[in-house]
Amino acid sequence: MRSPLVLLTVLAAAATACGSSGGGDGGDPQGEAGSFEGRGPITYVQGKDVTGTVQEQIDRWNADHPGEEVTLIELSENADEQRQQMIQNAETQSDAYTVLSLDVVWTSEFAAHQWIEPLPAEEFPLDEMLPPTVETAMYRDSLYAVPQTSDGGLLYYRSDLLEAAGIAEPPTTWAEMEEACDAVLALPEAAGMSCYTGQHEKYEGLTVNFAEAVNSAGGVITDENGTPDVDTPEARAGLDFLVGAFEDGTIPRDAITYKEEEGRRAFQGGDLVFMRQWPYMYGMANATDGSSEVAGNFDVAPLPGLDGPGASSLGGHNLALSSFAENKATALDFMKFFSNEENARTNLEVTSSAPCYAALYDDPALAEQYPYLPELKESILNAVPRPRVVEYGRVTAAIQDAAYAALTGEKSSERALSDLQQTLLEYTAG
Ligand code: GLC
Repeated sequence: MRSPLVLLTVLAAAATACGSSGGGDGGDPQGEAGSFEGRGPITYVQGKDVTGTVQEQIDRWNADHPGEEVTLIELSENADEQRQQMIQNAETQSDAYTVLSLDVVWTSEFAAHQWIEPLPAEEFPLDEMLPPTVETAMYRDSLYAVPQTSDGGLLYYRSDLLEAAGIAEPPTTWAEMEEACDAVLALPEAAGMSCYTGQHEKYEGLTVNFAEAVNSAGGVITDENGTPDVDTPEARAGLDFLVGAFEDGTIPRDAITYKEEEGRRAFQGGDLVFMRQWPYMYGMANATDGSSEVAGNFDVAPLPGLDGPGASSLGGHNLALSSFAENKATALDFMKFFSNEENARTNLEVTSSAPCYAALYDDPALAEQYPYLPELKESILNAVPRPRVVEYGRVTAAIQDAAYAALTGEKSSERALSDLQQTLLEYTAG
């Protein structure tokens, strides 16, 4: 039998005060870091390394740690599929996966089921990291993962085309963005282009894009107590932006199948004026090896919203230690190495992925390479976490179903949101 889902509030403190984990299978985690024993080979498991740089970092570790080598296991590009593969590994209590790269939204679920180990917080420089990134790694006041990369949504735009159309500043509202498109798409050099895309396929990226649209119109998915509150005019205005954009062609039809990578290829191929995307695309779209047609011709700005700047969802990945793994002493050392500031700096320099260390956002050399770092830091500090729930898989599936039904015209926004509210309320009942 399934235990009732308990929605925890977005505040770590409130989450701590919450009476029941609702985790079910795994019992109640103690939250105290145990001893980490055993040295030897381990694995590191993450989604597909689209930047192609992870193996190099692991090679540096391996060169210094004979007998304690790390083998990289790459899973799917799709966040939901990564989650399923990791859960399958945990449910069979397999020792195949040692260190897991967990999406920030999975911490509660993995911790409550005791699929990951509580970690010794004092052994990681958490006070040097942006506070919201550390909060994503906590469950009931204990540390269950180490922040490795953060993520905040940005509006990428074709600065060359905006300039050609006489538009001096990037848009701060959805209406301004659509007006800018009208002007840009009338230019001969923009023939065949589309206005905008985000991530709209039915997977975690759609949850993110739905949440951002709702938050950017003043709505919420759950209120400050963790209670669903998505059947509101504000949430409808947010969803209607996406629905209307699909209807009138602002978002091209094909984008209903876009995850991060399909959209990145379209933007890099010069097909889009605007795109909602994570920081990792900045480096790839600026590559001058011929892989990008837009290198040097785009810039980034905060996400637009209904009446002014929008709000990003808080993304990112944390390193967690599988409870069923061997060689946990090696794993702990590797997690310290892999999440350290030097590696975060290299990651930023080489892949433009958002670091968790606050100091890197204020570093002059890095700010020269990535002039948007101050805005990204603000975006992460003000980002809205997705619901912090033990059964995150059910909640995100309900959100994806509702958003997808509205985007494909199967349901009106109104109906999709009232159904979603009911489903989320059912999950919180009891
Ligand atoms: C990025 C984010 C992650 C999010 C995912 C959605 O990887 O870091 O938090 O869930 O995109 O596709």
